Amino acid sequence: MFFPSVRMRRLRNCRAIRALVRETVLTPDDFVQPLFICPGKNVKQQIESMPGIFRMSVDLAVVECLKIRSAGIKSVILFGIPEKKDETGEVGCRDDGIIQQAIRSIKKEIPDIYIITDVCNCEYTIHGHCGPLVNGVVDNDKTIQLLGRQALSHAKAGVDMVAPSDMMDGRVGYIRNILDRDGYHDIPIMSYAVKYASSFYGPFREAAQSAPGIGDRKGYQMDYSNSREGIREAFLDIEEGADIIMVKPAMSYLDIVLKIKENSDVPVAAYNVSGEYSMVKAANEKGWIDGQKVMMEILTSIKRAGADIIISYHSVDAVSLLAKGWY
Ligand code: PBG
Repeated sequence: MFFPSVRMRRLRNCRAIRALVRETVLTPDDFVQPLFICPGKNVKQQIESMPGIFRMSVDLAVVECLKIRSAGIKSVILFGIPEKKDETGEVGCRDDGIIQQAIRSIKKEIPDIYIITDVCNCEYTIHGHCGPLVNGVVDNDKTIQLLGRQALSHAKAGVDMVAPSDMMDGRVGYIRNILDRDGYHDIPIMSYAVKYASSFYGPFREAAQSAPGIGDRKGYQMDYSNSREGIREAFLDIEEGADIIMVKPAMSYLDIVLKIKENSDVPVAAYNVSGEYSMVKAANEKGWIDGQKVMMEILTSIKRAGADIIISYHSVDAVSLLAKGWY
C-alpha cells in the first residue's frame, strides 16, 4: 500500500498520538553527572569553557551531590585535580588522595548515591600524559600497574564502580585481578573501551588541567577514522572482564554506539564530552540555537543509537526538563 491510502502524518498529528508511538524517551535513570573535585575548602571555581560546570572542593562536592540526588539523578562520576602533580601519576594512588577523600565524604553523607570514578593518570601527571613516560612514550605496562593501585585505593575508599579511561592495553584484566584478589569482586568495571583521540576533550583538559604538555594522545587513544578497531577494542575488554563498555565521545560516534550495541550483550555507555557540551552552550549564548531544545535532541539521539547510560554535563538540566514533562 502507498499514498494516498498510506499517510505517515496520521501518527504525528497531535501530541497524544506522538507520545503513544514514541520509540525513545529519556528518563532520569539514564544519566550520570560528572564532577570535578579540587583541593581546599569552600572552593567553587567556574570552568571558563564550560558554563555552569565548576571545580569544587570536597565539602562543596558533597552539597552538589545532595542537589544532584534530589534532582533525581542516582549516579556521579568523579574526576580529581590533586594539590601537586608528579611524573608518574603516583599521587592518584594515595589513600588520602583527592578522589579517595571525596568518595569517603560523599558516601558518609549520601550513602545511596552511586559513585563511579575515572581511573587514569592524566589528571595526576605533570606532563599530562596518561602514565609514566619512557623515552617520551607512555609505558603501557608501568601504567597499568599504577591504574591497578589507583583502582584499589578507590575501592578501599568505598567507590561503587571504576572506569579506566586511558586506553592502555590489558588494563581491564589487570584491574579486575587486583580488585578480586583484595575481595572487591562486586565492584564493576566500566571500560572506556572505545575512546577516540578527540579534539572534543579540549574544555575537559582546562577543567582537569590535564592537557598533555608535549605531543598528543594518538599513541594510545583511537584514530577517529576507524570503526572496526572499536569493535575489537570492545570485545577484548569484555573478554578481560569489563561489565560495561563505553564509547567516547558520543555525538560524532553514534555509529559506533549502535555497532557495539548490536554486536555485544553488555550495557553500553556513551560519554557526551566537554566539547560537545561547550558548543551547545556557546551557540546558545550567541542566540544562534535554542540550547535546551538542542540539548534534549542530542541526548535523545544518544539513547536512540543504543546507549543504556549517558554521561553528560547536561544531566541535571536535562532531568529537570524531564520533570516538567518535556516530550
Ligand atoms: C581521561 C579523561 C578525559 C576525559 C575523560 N577522562 C580526557 C582525555 O582523555 O584527554 C574527557 C571528558 C570530556 O571531554 O568531557 N582521564
